Amino acid sequence: MASVPISEGFERRLCVAPMMAWTDRHCRYLHRLAAPRALLFTEMITANALQHGPAERLLRYDPSEHPIAIQLGGSDPALLADAARQAADAGYDEINLNVGCPSPRVSKGRFGACLMQEPELVRDCVAAMHAAVSLPITIKCRLGVDDADSDDLLDRFIEITRAGGCDVYYIHARKALLKGLSPAQNRSVPPLQYGRAYRLRERFPDLCFIINGGIETNEQVREHLTRQDGVMVGRAAYHNPLRLAGMHALIFGGEPADSHALLSGYRAHIERELAAGTRLADMTRHALGLFAGSPGARRWRRLMSDAARLRANDIGLIDEALEMIEPMAA
Ligand SMILES: Cc1cc2nc3c(=O)[nH]c(=O)nc-3n(C[C@H](O)[C@H](O)[C@H](O)COP(=O)(O)O)c2cc1C
Repeated sequence: MASVPISEGFERRLCVAPMMAWTDRHCRYLHRLAAPRALLFTEMITANALQHGPAERLLRYDPSEHPIAIQLGGSDPALLADAARQAADAGYDEINLNVGCPSPRVSKGRFGACLMQEPELVRDCVAAMHAAVSLPITIKCRLGVDDADSDDLLDRFIEITRAGGCDVYYIHARKALLKGLSPAQNRSVPPLQYGRAYRLRERFPDLCFIINGGIETNEQVREHLTRQDGVMVGRAAYHNPLRLAGMHALIFGGEPADSHALLSGYRAHIERELAAGTRLADMTRHALGLFAGSPGARRWRRLMSDAARLRANDIGLIDEALEMIEPMAA
């Protein structure tokens, strides 16, 4: 397992992937309950938005979310350095640069996956952030883009960007196709090539590689961790937080949290947030998978789809669900 020394005081053996519109601070609160030692990621936040938008709101998180990495999008070294400073001041534990998003809007802004074709620019971005803050600056990328996806080009990307001061790479183990596929298709159509990610780990033994893409079961986690420094899980964690809890127990030991513990912990967050004016639906939507695969799954989803009660911010919904779980657990 990991031979790269861990100096930051947190581990990356289990990471929850950055997911736009999904891994907001409410979702991360829930994931933290399921996985107390996982490294959590924000959604991608553009350097531009931090410069010109509601920075305080964008940077907000709960202290329980530590360790937490902020994922930045951008390709202007000076702007990214400013964003990194803001993130460091806000107390984030790591700054991650998005070099994997294939969306046309993102490519048009010259960031995301298209940057794999500009390793020198990525190096300069990393170096600028590295000079601005003392946090680890890491990269999340693909195996390649379009036809530029050979092992040689990938090695070159790592060689060049590490010179900027990156020594941790999260590898979404498939290439991105920048034309013709939607972002969702780009997460399933190009085939996963775990072997190529494993090869990187052998080729650059002094760097840290976290593998991402299609990881759904404890068996897969166990297998990857014999070849990589950590796993990053996205959709499986979101759609089924209990599965995330199971992975956490596999890696860090202890009993996995059950749905009752998760829901009652999340209820406390919901109650506080409702009092502060957050809409109930903005929080319950992240918990729809809490009973995935169990007999209560359908009732739970039906309860959580009651538009009128959601609109009324009626926390009684959660209490009914908690009552529903008791007989299931008996
Ligand atoms: C709804 C959604 C939004 C995503 N947004 C981001 C993002 O903001 N930044 C990023 O690097 N990857 C993003 N991704 C990709 C994931 O981080 C991850 O690489 C991908 O889903 C593959 O992992 P998985 O098979 O475990 O889900 C997103 C994925 C999903 C499903």
